[in-house]
Amino acid sequence: MKFDKHLVILSAMPEEIGSILENLSEIKKFEFGDLIIYRGLWEDTKNNRKILISTAWSGWGKVCASRAATRIISLSQHIFPINLLIFTGVAGALNEELNQWDLVLPTEVIQYDLDATPIFEKFVIPSLKKKFLAPIPRIHSWAFKTLKKGIKKDLKKFGNIFDGVIGTADKFISSKEDRNKIRKELPSIQAIEMEGAAVAQVLEQERVPWIIVRVISDEADNNAEQNFNTFLKEYSKISWELVKLLLINYDLD
Ligand code: ADE
Repeated sequence: MKFDKHLVILSAMPEEIGSILENLSEIKKFEFGDLIIYRGLWEDTKNNRKILISTAWSGWGKVCASRAATRIISLSQHIFPINLLIFTGVAGALNEELNQWDLVLPTEVIQYDLDATPIFEKFVIPSLKKKFLAPIPRIHSWAFKTLKKGIKKDLKKFGNIFDGVIGTADKFISSKEDRNKIRKELPSIQAIEMEGAAVAQVLEQERVPWIIVRVISDEADNNAEQNFNTFLKEYSKISWELVKLLLINYDLD
């Protein structure tokens, strides 16, 4: 198998990556209980190269996402080292300036349900001794610039692009009370979801580069369930286009 790079595309639900499998060739399927990892080649005709893609839908939440990330790393280690893992999907907005279809690429992520007090300060990850994890700045700024330029030109459905902090917890936020509580405790959080910071922890400890790309589906308020469901249907039609934009423009070592 000849290829130039190995990228991993991971999301919680199939809708969040869309038609990726129809766009890969020589697909191999690896089953681990109820988790399926697909590995195949994506032909980048624009740059005349092939990119090896590993992809999976992890299921919701920190445990499922961490498990999928770990399995993909183990499957790839030594044979096909991973250049970059992209975790993508939808998120609920906490910052009132964010709207549906806006993109958030976090410069930092935090597990806002992690609390090992009094032994560690609240939110500190004991194994890493820090609260916030950050992607490699060079990779983050490449992705940010690529998507900013790309959505303006080709993917007009998307709104604005933001960076800042994304918060992760094992909770779907669907009330004004819950959303305000998070905002009050951690005002820097722009948007919340249920996987990103957990995957970031696995990848930081495993020394694999990562970025997170989130699209706002709802405002984590009392209408969150309905907005999330209707948005997901629409978003699934073009989620692959967003991923493809990153693949075509991937030019890092
Ligand atoms: N992902 C998308 N919307 C969300 C919400 N409101 N809470 C948690 N995760 C989400």
